[in-house]
Amino acid sequence: MSVKLLNRLEGALEQAEENGTYKHLRFIEGPIGAEIQLEGRDHISLLSSNDYLGLANHPEVVEAARDALLKYGASTASVRFICGTQDIHQQLETALANLHGTEAALTYSSCWSANTGLFAAICEEGDVILSDALNHASLIDGIRATGKGVVRKVYKHADMADLEQKLIEYQSAPSRLIVTDGVFSMEGDIAPLKNIVELARKYDALVVLDDSHGLGVLGKTGRGTAEHFGVMDGIDIFTGTLGKALAAGTGGFVTGPKAITETLIQKSRPHLFSNALPPSVASAGCKSIELLLEHPEWVQELQEKALWFRNHLKSLGLNPLEGDSAIVPVILGETSTAIKIAADMLVEGVFVTGFGFPVVPEGEARLRFQISHAHNKDQLLNAAAKLKACLR
Ligand SMILES: Cc1ncc(COP(=O)(O)O)c(C=O)c1O
Repeated sequence: MSVKLLNRLEGALEQAEENGTYKHLRFIEGPIGAEIQLEGRDHISLLSSNDYLGLANHPEVVEAARDALLKYGASTASVRFICGTQDIHQQLETALANLHGTEAALTYSSCWSANTGLFAAICEEGDVILSDALNHASLIDGIRATGKGVVRKVYKHADMADLEQKLIEYQSAPSRLIVTDGVFSMEGDIAPLKNIVELARKYDALVVLDDSHGLGVLGKTGRGTAEHFGVMDGIDIFTGTLGKALAAGTGGFVTGPKAITETLIQKSRPHLFSNALPPSVASAGCKSIELLLEHPEWVQELQEKALWFRNHLKSLGLNPLEGDSAIVPVILGETSTAIKIAADMLVEGVFVTGFGFPVVPEGEARLRFQISHAHNKDQLLNAAAKLKACLR
């Protein structure tokens, strides 16, 4: 075996360790919740999970997954168009379409797969994709995967004047797609969807919304960023994940007109060349959607907790970024500082992640707190106090 490549990688890893930017995986012993057992330590407060509604270990969700495992087995061990999928997948897709008020839905093994498989399947030469500068990496990769002749442009983050100018510029293109995250995962801010929908109507564009961090978190009933702004019917295509607020474990989806989902079945590469969701996950997803619909008060309480935590950090002089979501970042500067403070927080019993370059711009490394309905006020008070102490 040639060792040159391995030597190069080892050198880069050593350098990252030296710079304090190495990402170490942590091992949780048992299920997640507001508190976890982590590497032999009990009662670690967890503020770095996307389990916004506390459903990841909800007894009814776990039971739904277990029942489906017993009923359907572990999987079809196949790609969907080759061997078919089980009726539980159909139930999940119907539930997702109903939740978003769209004609149809199609599931993928992750939202990463959904986003990377969407654009190349539906866009043709001359079509124009306008993408927010802070969109998630999976949208960026999905847009990059489009074929020759598809025009790909980035508009400044949430900048409606820039977006409008680009819509005007490409007014004669066959189709225009505006692509945005609902909640921006590193900033915790939300896309100005009302304005985006207005522009889309004015310039005859489609809106594609990845609401992975908005579903279950925003809006009166948790339908996400579009519900928050009252523009559910202005979104043409939703993408999202079963792996955050819905907490089924993994899985993603595209919902929208049947012409879109049927085209994806014909042409979307992650759908054509990769296995379907396990039925246990599909069943857990169905149960999570059911619970979300039954408990809009969980969503309201989550929103109140996130707002309270933001305000509390401000009252301690800790300056979180503004936003309406359950993602509350605090900017610390250098990547190594964010990683060091996250490590100190863990020593103090609070698990929160530090993000640095290249995930966020150089000099804007941050701790990202994620609030869950499962958190109680004491935990949030404690996390804020520990941050204050660690920063001292
Ligand atoms: C905005 C956004 N889209 C897509 C994804 C990918 O989701 P999944 O874990 O289902 O692949 C994420 C996950 O981090 C995300 O934050």
